[in-house]
Amino acid sequence: MARMQMPRNLESVLDEAWRTARHVPGFLLEHEARLLGTIAACTPAAGVIVEIGSFKGKSTVMLGKVAAHYGLGPVVAIDPHNFNSPELQGFRTDPASSSFTEFLKNIELAGVSGQIEAHRAYARDVARTWNRPIRFLWIDGDHSYAGAKEDFDKFFPFVNPLGVVALHDSLHAFSGPIRVFVEDMLRSERFGAAGFVHSIAWSQFRPEDGSRFAQPRAQLERVAAPLISLVRDDRKLRGLQKIRYKLLRARVPRRPLSPDEWTELLDAPPEE
Ligand SMILES: C[S@@+](CC[C@H](N)C(=O)[O-])C[C@H]1O[C@@H](n2cnc3c(N)ncnc32)[C@H](O)[C@@H]1O
Repeated sequence: MARMQMPRNLESVLDEAWRTARHVPGFLLEHEARLLGTIAACTPAAGVIVEIGSFKGKSTVMLGKVAAHYGLGPVVAIDPHNFNSPELQGFRTDPASSSFTEFLKNIELAGVSGQIEAHRAYARDVARTWNRPIRFLWIDGDHSYAGAKEDFDKFFPFVNPLGVVALHDSLHAFSGPIRVFVEDMLRSERFGAAGFVHSIAWSQFRPEDGSRFAQPRAQLERVAAPLISLVRDDRKLRGLQKIRYKLLRARVPRRPLSPDEWTELLDAPPEE
């Protein structure tokens, strides 16, 4: 496979995008945001970027900035904006408010409104009429297993070969993202390079030659799969369970990746 071209000035584009996105309230750390920007810019597949779960627009702004700079087309941002996820209850300051107003304000302030195609809806409802190819599927919506699995199942069929799927909160106490990542991606011969950066799990869709990456995927699966049973019921972890989870999670490699390191992983023939 031909080596990927690194887009010009990517590091400074990521710096600039994060300078804006960091002010938006949300759940994304800098290294995670930079990974999203890197995936958006470097993924060697055609199609749109789809974000499931926007909240107040932190990841949307990061993706929108990078998409604007490189002319990548719209970021399709899907969220019902109704604060119904359990982890968001504490963020509802005004009972009449929704995250939609703040989302619109934040993408406007960041100067990326023109890049964002916002759908105030559940992903499953947008999926009913969806027919566009996807280059980057970013799942950060309902973190229950049923929710994450449904989002993956409905949108993954549209991900183009060499496109990337990433799930947030895969190394936190939610049942969905880690289970979908292990069962549907790491265990699939149709996926290639894969990894974690902080709590984002990502993998490239390689239907032609994913089996070349079987060994590194299996290595990652060995350390990631044991987490699934501990988060199965989506409850907050306490006491010994929490210690056990943290010990197991410590075995999972999840350091930040530079754009060079990330693109190298996509191309690298796996070590024997
Ligand atoms: C953790 S927040 C997203 C955070 C955001 N990506 C950021 O960078 O700050 C999860 C969001 O997913 C949305 N959500 C929950 N279930 C969803 C679904 N089925 N489809 C689309 N969005 C959903 C919630 O309304 C919430 O705003």
